[in-house]
Amino acid sequence: MIPAHIYNDAEIFELERERLFRRAWMFVAHESEIPQDGDYVVRRLLDDSFIIARDSKGDVRAMFNMCLHRGMQVCRAEMGNASNFRCPYHGWSYRNDGRLTGLPFHQEAYGGEAGFQKRGQTLLPAPNLASYNGMIFISLDAQAPPLEEFLGDFRFYLDFYTRQSGAGLEVRGPQRWRIKANWKIGVENFAGDMYHTPHTHASVVDIGLFREPKAQKRKDGATYWAGCGGGTTYKLPPGTFDERMRYVGYPDDMVGRIKQMWSDDHQRVVGDDGFMISAASCFPNMSLVHNWPKIQDSDDVLPFISIRTWQPISENETEVYSWFAVDAAAPDQFKKDSYKAYLMCFGSTGMFEQDDVENWVSLTNTAAGSMARQLLLNGRMGLLADGTPVVNALPPEQFHGPGVAQVGYNENNQRAILRMWADHLEMPPVAPNPATIGGRPDGITPLAQTNGTSACQAAHQEV
Ligand code: FES
Ligand SMILES: [Fe+2]
Repeated sequence: MIPAHIYNDAEIFELERERLFRRAWMFVAHESEIPQDGDYVVRRLLDDSFIIARDSKGDVRAMFNMCLHRGMQVCRAEMGNASNFRCPYHGWSYRNDGRLTGLPFHQEAYGGEAGFQKRGQTLLPAPNLASYNGMIFISLDAQAPPLEEFLGDFRFYLDFYTRQSGAGLEVRGPQRWRIKANWKIGVENFAGDMYHTPHTHASVVDIGLFREPKAQKRKDGATYWAGCGGGTTYKLPPGTFDERMRYVGYPDDMVGRIKQMWSDDHQRVVGDDGFMISAASCFPNMSLVHNWPKIQDSDDVLPFISIRTWQPISENETEVYSWFAVDAAAPDQFKKDSYKAYLMCFGSTGMFEQDDVENWVSLTNTAAGSMARQLLLNGRMGLLADGTPVVNALPPEQFHGPGVAQVGYNENNQRAILRMWADHLEMPPVAPNPATIGGRPDGITPLAQTNGTSACQAAHQEV
């Protein structure tokens, strides 16, 4: 049972800020957004702005976007290519690896290197930086466990979305907008809410955009939870792996490449078990979608992939970042059509998006008052009164992915997320890093690759 006020409570938001977002790994960018040396994007994590840059040696870095002098935000553009960043206030400048290189009137104002050694000063690096399949994550906790350990078995499911060929993913966007809703609602929805689809999105079904999200169909899918995330699947009609991939709209050449990348177990989830991954969430605030709407007046469908983060602004406001993602090796026409499919469903023009947000804003408003403090919401779907499951978990021979999977409507994943959330709120606050007057170049590690392909990095090294 879930106290209703957790969806709009300033005190709880303070705890989340301190105990959850100060330690968890959070997705900030994909390496394909910064393919060339000098490319950068600026991303916000709660109150902190970071420059995510590929420096002139090709290493990916994440630097706190605050000038070492008087604290101005150094880089004000949202993306670009630069060898240096110059602070707009007094003109201190930094290389794209963070090193302080330029200081107006160094001799006259500071007595030169003898008075203030600019050598050895850098923008503060993010306390922790790592990537998986080209997805760049930051943790604000210097002592955070390795990313791979944090993700755990959810990596298996991430591979479905992010490893369709050796070329890796390319992304477009992100589109960025704010909604007056608590960040947890979207995370929970994407993780496991198959139950809302036929009702909230009835109009999308009525106009024939989808071949199959009828209530009956949706409940034949399975939800799964593994490591730090979980998601939903659709049940596919009978067929081989190839036939089922074609059924959701993948052309043959893409299916061929996918088969070279996905493990036997990945292929069995689709080919033997008959499940196709759909929406998912990775704790704490990243979600993914894979869907296959119709984009023309025919029965042909086309798949798209989207990645998003729910960036908390306050207890009742969230900034959504939504990227379109596609296999870099996909044919151009496929990329074009897939992008159109994405825009139709999600993002600021998405029909699903608008249906969903209407609910979430209303829920957030209703959770703010005193009556909400007297209400425990019913989050028990999938459990009998004694706590045993309504439907048993799928045995390993019927579901070849890691973790626990179950067919039908349930709120297992929403509960799993809230359990992790509650565990974090009970942890002691993260030990603060000591304050410093700037980073040290020898103390900065650029991005360490974890498992998986990093196409941009590989391409860079070849060049
Ligand atoms: S605040 Fe950046 S140069 Fe002064
Ligand atoms: Fe939805």
